[in-house]
Amino acid sequence: MSTAQPAFLVDLKRTHPCNALRTSDLGREVVLMGWVQNRRDHGGRVFIDLRDREGLTQVVFGPELNAEAHALAGDLRPEFCLAVAGKVVSRVSSGGQANPRLATGEVEIEAARLHIFSRAETPPFPIEDEIDTHEQLRLKYRYLDLRRPSLQRNFMKRSQLYRATRDYFHGERFVELETPFMVKYTPGGARNFLVPSRLNPGRFYALAESPQIFKQLFMVAGFDRYFQIVRCFRDEDLRLDRQPEFTQIDVEMSFVVEEDVYAIMEGLIARIWKDVLDVAIPGPFPRMSYDEAVGRYGVDKPDLRFGLPLTDITALVAAHGGANVPFFTSTLEANGTIKALRIPAEHASQLSRAELDKLEEFAKGFGAKGLARCKIGPAMEWAQTPLKAINDSPPARTALNEALGVAPGDIVFFQFGAAKNVNAVLGALRMHFGTRFQLIDKAAWKFLWVTDFPMFEKTDQGGWAAAHHPFTSPKPEHVQHLGVDNGKVQARAYDLVLNGNEIAGGSIRIHQRDVQQKVFEALGLEIEDLRAKFGFLLDAFKYGPPPHGGIAFGVDRLSMLLCGADSLRDVIAFPKTQKGTDLMTDCPTEVDAKQLDELSVRVKV
Ligand code: AMO
Repeated sequence: MSTAQPAFLVDLKRTHPCNALRTSDLGREVVLMGWVQNRRDHGGRVFIDLRDREGLTQVVFGPELNAEAHALAGDLRPEFCLAVAGKVVSRVSSGGQANPRLATGEVEIEAARLHIFSRAETPPFPIEDEIDTHEQLRLKYRYLDLRRPSLQRNFMKRSQLYRATRDYFHGERFVELETPFMVKYTPGGARNFLVPSRLNPGRFYALAESPQIFKQLFMVAGFDRYFQIVRCFRDEDLRLDRQPEFTQIDVEMSFVVEEDVYAIMEGLIARIWKDVLDVAIPGPFPRMSYDEAVGRYGVDKPDLRFGLPLTDITALVAAHGGANVPFFTSTLEANGTIKALRIPAEHASQLSRAELDKLEEFAKGFGAKGLARCKIGPAMEWAQTPLKAINDSPPARTALNEALGVAPGDIVFFQFGAAKNVNAVLGALRMHFGTRFQLIDKAAWKFLWVTDFPMFEKTDQGGWAAAHHPFTSPKPEHVQHLGVDNGKVQARAYDLVLNGNEIAGGSIRIHQRDVQQKVFEALGLEIEDLRAKFGFLLDAFKYGPPPHGGIAFGVDRLSMLLCGADSLRDVIAFPKTQKGTDLMTDCPTEVDAKQLDELSVRVKV
């Protein structure tokens, strides 16, 4: 009979994760596996904290416990990967102290066996949550970065999000279906990544920016309710809330109107928040039209965790013939917009002159030419302001004061000019003040459906582009304006906003071929071009398409918010940098001439 000791992995299986043991386990023989968080030597004994994705457990090695294990423990360094077997004992009864910050803080393992699976070089940064390391270094060693407990928690939440999503949709009779990534290039929407086809020289696939057309074809095919957790690819300029490849929860439903989509999605949100955070999110969510959102908050994704609404005073100023203020009069002459943001005295009093002057620079960063302001004086006069001429027109001043709801001590900020710029500047300023005056309730979840979007937006070249995508249904009463007065057409589109983030967008689609054709034409697509690009969709609509609609959630943004993270990079395992590069694998790379030849591609640079 063999006298060999039982082997880890084969005979000695892991019995517990590293966050599990409590005083109720005292005396138990256990096997733990993980990484060395830290090592301390004390009175001839070696102590380590052993870490796995769940937490930490203290392990003690002593010559009297097991001489061999104790000797080997002298080698241990942070990030060594190992297995220990031993007995659970009370820290206090062994002469130590409990650690109330650890779930396992009342116990420790007296090691009888130690096996080092692999040794580690000193990592480029410590594996801890509070590290002061440049993000570039973290991304280069992403597999070490991912060992940090906060990131591990994020990805565990993300996994729960997937599970809740799948459970929910299966319970609601949705079918999970896949769509191709390599697709036909179609114009409009985001810029696509292109993939050269070796078998078809000179031709390219596009990487799908979303499964939009395919999910609509699933409806034509009769699948009725579809969902997919799917990667999408967009060659966009990147920001903290944008990645070139990102994940959507993509949904499409037949025989529905807006209300049906809202109800199902509110159910999904409630399920995710319950399963991931154990937080109840009651529906229905409030609704706001696009015009109201932009009007009151300057953006189509308002953060409703605090007030500070904007006021459009253009009409009122016009009614008072420009209110005697040159800035106002010239704006009206140029058909511009005048909007104001009122900061109540209780907050305004915190703003020093220097800070107020700095705000002007902040506003310029968002495209402002300047940032006019006034302080409301004791007699409701406008003081400290380039707009002081209004004081010579008391009726205008009274009317504006009333519209703005001001009181003495308030400060009002103004923007004049093109509506788009005015909103961008004041919307950003409002967010700045929300943070500056600590008005944002960090524990709040403010969901909002934004509805009644315009169907088209003007392009810089003077043409029209679909504001959502060209398959979005116009409101039936606006079909008559298609191609005649595109600016008047509203879409049956909706976005779901959470705390100032667009987390989902969708629409009721066009299912009538003639309407779809009219929309394409309104976008200026030539008939032949149109057949070449979208012929298959128009053909499909010949064969009894059902009325349908859908939506897609940005999973990365959802995860970021659920985890309280600041960047998508904290919830995407292997993210790209702002420049679209992967620092760990050093990608994208050049390829050799032979490969390019095979693809019939020539590089210009
Ligand atoms: P949309 O383009 O609005 O709609 O995308 C849906 C959601 O995806 C998220 N998102 C992104 N997240 C990270 N990085 C990006 N680059 C990025 N771009 C978008 C956002 C957004 O709300 N086919 C339509 C959906 C539909 O109509 O059903 C679509 O893709 O959270």
